[in-house]
Amino acid sequence: MYLDLALFLLRNPSSESLRVARLITALKPRFTMVRSANLINLHRTVTHVNNLGIEGDIVECGVWNGGSAALMWAAQHQSQQRVNRKMWLFDSFQGVPPPSDDDGASAKESYFEGFCKGDPKNVAAAFDRLNLPLADVQIVPGWFEDTLHTVNIESVAVLHIDADWYDPILFVLRTFYDRVTPGGYILLDDYSFWTGSNKALADFLNERGLTDLVEIHPVASMGAFFRKPIAQPVFATE
Ligand SMILES: C[S@@+](CC[C@H](N)C(=O)[O-])C[C@H]1O[C@@H](n2cnc3c(N)ncnc32)[C@H](O)[C@@H]1O
Repeated sequence: MYLDLALFLLRNPSSESLRVARLITALKPRFTMVRSANLINLHRTVTHVNNLGIEGDIVECGVWNGGSAALMWAAQHQSQQRVNRKMWLFDSFQGVPPPSDDDGASAKESYFEGFCKGDPKNVAAAFDRLNLPLADVQIVPGWFEDTLHTVNIESVAVLHIDADWYDPILFVLRTFYDRVTPGGYILLDDYSFWTGSNKALADFLNERGLTDLVEIHPVASMGAFFRKPIAQPVFATE
């Protein structure tokens, strides 16, 4: 048992907490590198959008070996008031691309070709580990720039972005934000860890005039999420 999960159970003693902790221990470390606090938050978010009846699919950009995706899909299947939805999983399965100047020195020092290279077979194995059917799950291999526009996703309830660097994160935000259902959630796993993640979100919110309308909630020591505003901004015209 991981220390962070033991603390989570001590602070939140319930059969539901135990169920989530068991799911996480079944997935870590083979299928996910996401920290337990962020996995717990993903599980809660998917349960929450179902409880609220928020329509839309679950989209993950940055899948690696499928652990965070499988956990979200487990939450979807276990939700008492389930909204029908699909899951879309986008990844190059070749690792992250090289960082740019917007990612700073530490990203450049950490990077090597094949950094964070996952495998779709492991994604299937992660779902299998939790006895989850892949029927409504679409795995889309390839670079985001080549794949995100090729599929027909009408609306998104939960958008999980776990792509490390500035360019892919900004590209995902620009591609999917307008399709996120008002009240839906956008989660960034790398926020406060890789500097490009914070810059990508700040630049996106700024270019869309959303900076003062969105509340960014940090998750433990890294990661953050925000909710798409329910009322869209109305700009006065002369
Ligand atoms: C940190 S890993 C994802 C971790 C995963 N969510 C988990 O549960 O452990 C980042 C992933 O983003 C993918 N990625 C980053 N930039 C990409 C891009 N431009 N196109 C496609 N995949 C990309 C990488 O291939 C890698 O698998």
